Amino acid sequence: MNNRLTLNFLRNIFALAMILVPTVSFGIMEGTSAPADGREFYTPAPHPYPRINGPQVYGSRPGHPFLYRIPCQGVRPITFSAKGLPKELSLDPQTGIISGHTPPKGEYLVTLQAINSNGKTKRAFKIVSGDQLALTPPMGWNHWYAHYDRITDEMVRQAADALIGSGMADVGYQYINIDDCWMNAQKNNDPKRVGPLRDTNGNLLPNKYFPDMNSLTGFIHGKGLKAGIYTSPGTLTCGGFAGAWQHEEQDAKQFADWGFDFLKYDWCSYDKIAGNDKSLDALQKPYRQMGNILHSLDRDIVFNLCQYGMGEVWKWGGEVGGHCWRTSGDLGFELDKIFDVALKNSEHRLNSKPGEWNDPDYIQIGWIGNASKMGVPQLTSMPDAMQYAYMSLWSLMAAPLIYSGDMSKLDKFTLNVLCNPEVIEVDQDPLGESAAVIKREDNNFVMFKTLVDGSLAVGLFNRGKEPAELSTTWKELNISGVQNVLDLWHEKEMGLYVDSLTATVPPQGVVMVKITKK
Ligand code: GLA
Repeated sequence: MNNRLTLNFLRNIFALAMILVPTVSFGIMEGTSAPADGREFYTPAPHPYPRINGPQVYGSRPGHPFLYRIPCQGVRPITFSAKGLPKELSLDPQTGIISGHTPPKGEYLVTLQAINSNGKTKRAFKIVSGDQLALTPPMGWNHWYAHYDRITDEMVRQAADALIGSGMADVGYQYINIDDCWMNAQKNNDPKRVGPLRDTNGNLLPNKYFPDMNSLTGFIHGKGLKAGIYTSPGTLTCGGFAGAWQHEEQDAKQFADWGFDFLKYDWCSYDKIAGNDKSLDALQKPYRQMGNILHSLDRDIVFNLCQYGMGEVWKWGGEVGGHCWRTSGDLGFELDKIFDVALKNSEHRLNSKPGEWNDPDYIQIGWIGNASKMGVPQLTSMPDAMQYAYMSLWSLMAAPLIYSGDMSKLDKFTLNVLCNPEVIEVDQDPLGESAAVIKREDNNFVMFKTLVDGSLAVGLFNRGKEPAELSTTWKELNISGVQNVLDLWHEKEMGLYVDSLTATVPPQGVVMVKITKK
């Protein structure tokens, strides 16, 4: 037997052995931080040596300000360098922040490098200078489900600090997004949020909790992060604060001058303006208008449509200039809905692609406030396994990963769910596929998507109250032969499999794997 045949023979024996042991059980792995209360943490602790995370491809418009903090885990100090960085950009070796102006139209193949006292690593990073933004789903934080109409400049700064301090930015979270209630209202329980909506020149006025927007975005940008803001095409936002109606261009320019990088445009009171006109044209009109305005600015502003899926927005959101759009109403506080919301969202999977993403709403875990009462944050009662399922669903669907919880109360478990670099890599995969659902039964379903390297990401979901043995066959996944299976959450090789995979999936939970041809 020659070497190759010997190897194949051994592989087949091993693969056969794996078929004979089809059930995979999951325990706490070595390196996993298991707290005293016995909760199971899936994501192993990061290694001391550097691991560069974040998107492999990044879109930006020529000549516009460029800002990118290299997400990198590992013990600091880390020293960064980059090969092939265009001359318009420079990298701070200590912070890993790349800044400057986007080079002329074209593709730039950069190799990012990180080194610390424990080791070094490299990662390819393609900068695409052209028209497209958000070539991978936006990742970051939004204040809504934690702070509602209590949001202040200070809380936003704290969130930016926490994004860095918690390690979230090191796995790719980047945007710090202010939602509703930063402007003035005509009526509000808090007198500091009541005041004139605009000055005598029609300029939009932030309320007293936001004394200096440029200083706030400067603070966020100083950390290499990006800043997001919110308004409505109506006269008032959903919370009753000043909207952009008849000041659209003035407000968009103001947001750019303040230094914002992301705009959520929420339909709200625009109902009154659209009146009885329920045509597609009427639904598209305010978004098309703002899309055109944002496109004309000399700043990259990611455009987030929020109109709850009206008029099948997934079919035209990209055409009017949107980069992501909510496919349904607010996720609210009924978090047991996440499986249904995900299954519904995934019906529109073919309308999602790089630069244009379906958005099933935020990741609400950790400390969040009851949406129907605009409540103060409490620790979520969502079962642990379901939290891992939530993050898996959003990642398989290539949804924006925007965490909406209290950043001052980030606990270890929440971070363990939010910060698994292998799972996030599935979300950020440059192909931008949104997973297809196969095998849907009462209490379980399987989802899979193809990744850029030809491998598959697969999620086995169990909605039931008991553990379930779930399987998927290679036929269903349209693959054949011996496959290497990696448990993504535990970052653990499961071995070689032939024909099918069976796993024991925890109640209301997930087993998420990557399947790669041997
Ligand atoms: C709507 C949106 C939410 C949030 C609130 C703010 O309900 O869907 O995401 O922005 O408005 O008032």
